[in-house]
Amino acid sequence: MTDNWPHVPVMLRETLEIMGGRLPDGSPAVFVDATLGAGGHASALLERFPESSLVGLDQDEMARSIAEERLSPYEKRARVRGWNFRDISLLGGEPGWSGADGVLFDLGVSNMQLATPERGFSFQEDGPLDMRMDKSADIKTAAEILESGDARELAAVFREYGEERYAFQIARAIVWRRERGGRIETTSDLTNLIRATLPAPVQRKMGTHPARRVFQALRIAVNSELEALSEGLEGAIEITRSGGVIVVISYHSLEDRIVKRTFLGWAQGKRGRILTRRPMTPSGEETGENRSSRSAKLRAFEINTCS
Ligand SMILES: C[S@@+](CC[C@H](N)C(=O)[O-])C[C@H]1O[C@@H](n2cnc3c(N)ncnc32)[C@H](O)[C@@H]1O
Repeated sequence: MTDNWPHVPVMLRETLEIMGGRLPDGSPAVFVDATLGAGGHASALLERFPESSLVGLDQDEMARSIAEERLSPYEKRARVRGWNFRDISLLGGEPGWSGADGVLFDLGVSNMQLATPERGFSFQEDGPLDMRMDKSADIKTAAEILESGDARELAAVFREYGEERYAFQIARAIVWRRERGGRIETTSDLTNLIRATLPAPVQRKMGTHPARRVFQALRIAVNSELEALSEGLEGAIEITRSGGVIVVISYHSLEDRIVKRTFLGWAQGKRGRILTRRPMTPSGEETGENRSSRSAKLRAFEINTCS
């Protein structure tokens, strides 16, 4: 099944170097992959560090079943949890837990989520406007958010989470459609409405798909992604032992800003040191081979060795 989702882990070489570079040979390191996805980074960590063990979290059931299959050769050393990473500190209460040497967050959605139209994440595939990563969670789908907000509220979502310049025009068009009995239930309903709302010269100048920012905004709102990231980072530092590292790969400026500010706050509070003064970015070779890596930024923090 894994072969159907050719997921290439982003900035893998850099991640392995930072997560394991300073560990003594043969060290029984404990890693936490907070965003297991298809298990790409996780399986590489287990392979590269044969004495290590790993706990992988993912709130998406489909991701977990694919990752479990990929991690099956390392069965004894890998455990998978269906948690939101905002609850990562719960690991600290598990029997036998002695702290992590490395915690990885590789944020956002995976290729397999994007490539599954029924999930509603992609503006390129027609499907229901769902966008919940955890389908069992009691949260609104993207369609329900569009159904319930007024123009001001919707515009705030598009502006704040999508940095969309035409937020209010798009929000007004959605409400106008609703008031005339029209529904926006599918990804195509939404992309068609955005295309019909924005003047053609504006769309040409955008340099990206005209619906990209609104889709990003809705996904962030549906899954409370920014709140989860802030809470997840605070939980991660609680469960990481002295000398351990936290590595975050982010894909847009809203996430990167949270990571940068959190690391700065930790450094000022003398909780450790920032390992990446500027974020690391993928090599030209990697971006050439894997388009989804283009916007990646990697930041890393090392927890105080004497705290
Ligand atoms: C970019 S993918 C990770 C890919 C993975 N590193 C690999 O190499 O296969 C991000 C994954 O994180 C999961 N995810 C995103 N936010 C999450 C959260 N708050 N809690 C748990 N999992 C989350 C998504 O469901 C997705 O599977």
